[in-house]
Amino acid sequence: MKDKIQQAYKASKNIYDDVLTQGSFFSRLYIRLFWSGTDDREIARSVLSCIPADFGGALLDVPVGTAVFTAQAWRGLNNASITCLDHSRDMLAEARARLSGCRHISFVQGDVGALPFADGAFDIVFSMNGFHAFPDKEKAFSETARVLKPGGAFIGCFYIRGKSKITDLLVKCVLAKKGWFTPPFQTEEELRRRLTQIYRTAQLHTDGSIAWFRCVK
Ligand SMILES: C[S@@+](CC[C@H](N)C(=O)[O-])C[C@H]1O[C@@H](n2cnc3c(N)ncnc32)[C@H](O)[C@@H]1O
Repeated sequence: MKDKIQQAYKASKNIYDDVLTQGSFFSRLYIRLFWSGTDDREIARSVLSCIPADFGGALLDVPVGTAVFTAQAWRGLNNASITCLDHSRDMLAEARARLSGCRHISFVQGDVGALPFADGAFDIVFSMNGFHAFPDKEKAFSETARVLKPGGAFIGCFYIRGKSKITDLLVKCVLAKKGWFTPPFQTEEELRRRLTQIYRTAQLHTDGSIAWFRCVK
């Protein structure tokens, strides 16, 4: 399964940014037809706004992907110590190139299900569009919570099922088959229950088929 996911992201690394940021007519059409027009750039702005502008602690971005949504924010947080992790060497190489020259940012190739960090190592764990791709969601939930300090924030977003029939069909019949997404997928209620089991507080919002959240450990 992990190989299939690696191959999927290797094959798409050149079109990934364009599709997600709606850089062409076809990507705008794709988002409008299959994702009810939900704009990932707006969701990125919402989740990034949960991070204080003067944040100076330790932050883990998992999975960083190509850093298309986060590069500008991470460059600006130059008093923080930012670790960017991804399983795909290809995606990580794009992120590294985009963030070159930033001494406060480091890059790690690894698996969210076995994070190579101590318990409580981070003040913020940031996870955009990762959980719908991760092969073992339970390990991903427990590992991201483990490496967070008590009082630290888990911030992010990902696809949830049950909001749009056409999006669910696309995910099931195309994106999951290709390896960009990996089942099982959660509904809003299932995700809310999971987050409130793990975290002291959990604020959850939805925009089309995307849930975004800020939780405190
Ligand atoms: C949809 S991309 C999201 C990337 C980025 N956060 C964004 O919003 O553009 C999903 C990413 O999850 C990574 N990934 C998949 N399985 C992983 C795992 N087990 N551990 C770490 N990263 C993984 C993929 O390599 C890919 O870069």
